[in-house]
Amino acid sequence: MTSDALTLHRPEIRVLDDAEAVADAAAALIIDVVARRPGAVLGLATGRTPLEVYARLRAAAAAGARLDRIRSFNLDEYRGLPPNHPASYRAYMRRELFDAIGLADDRWHIPEGWGAPEAVADAYEAAIHDAGGIDLQLLGIGENGHIGFNEPAAPFNSRTREVELAPSTRAANAADFPPGEEPPRTAITMGIATILDARRLLLLAVGARKAKALAAALSGPVLPAIPASAIRLHPHAMVLADPAAAALLGA
Ligand code: PGA
Repeated sequence: MTSDALTLHRPEIRVLDDAEAVADAAAALIIDVVARRPGAVLGLATGRTPLEVYARLRAAAAAGARLDRIRSFNLDEYRGLPPNHPASYRAYMRRELFDAIGLADDRWHIPEGWGAPEAVADAYEAAIHDAGGIDLQLLGIGENGHIGFNEPAAPFNSRTREVELAPSTRAANAADFPPGEEPPRTAITMGIATILDARRLLLLAVGARKAKALAAALSGPVLPAIPASAIRLHPHAMVLADPAAAALLGA
């Protein structure tokens, strides 16, 4: 696929005062989506960037917001970790969001990091379809431009599947693992096409480490070499960035 054949869109880009303001805006948007549609289907992300968003959602739930009627689909999971491993995305999501908002086990979905990957992937795509598709997909961006665990060169028509992690991704995530333990080499991730099927995309970028990748995604060519550039194929994508991540936009 080349960008010539595709219709390009311009994501709404908001550069906010700081990381706190990015988290405030993202949480407010999610809360608004759920207020309008209590059974909204949210696509969720892990990593450091959404932590402050989830903190705000926990606070909103503690203050009475009903977030327990949503359904959710996470972008990805490592392969080969036991489900209760502290660095698994299951453990992360329970810790950071699900338990505090009272989300029942049958309402959230994370690709299983065990079992035959093709069967897990097919079941995941089917579950998203059966839920009626994702209303709002939250995304981070990797320093190499990845979204989910779609590393550079992931085809734009890719769907949920097993992938190999880039060395830079494993290095960036190593701190999440106990000393002496390395991140797995493979993961299961929604594909680029799976992500683009969501009705809205919300990409968050915070910190100077993301500046190059964000500029490449928003100002460079739309190509699989820069997976996040695929958000420009989506008609309803919003980007929230702090000034450090936005520093190279338009440069
Ligand atoms: P981070 O990861 O939020 O931990 O920087 C983002 C990503 O890799 O998508």
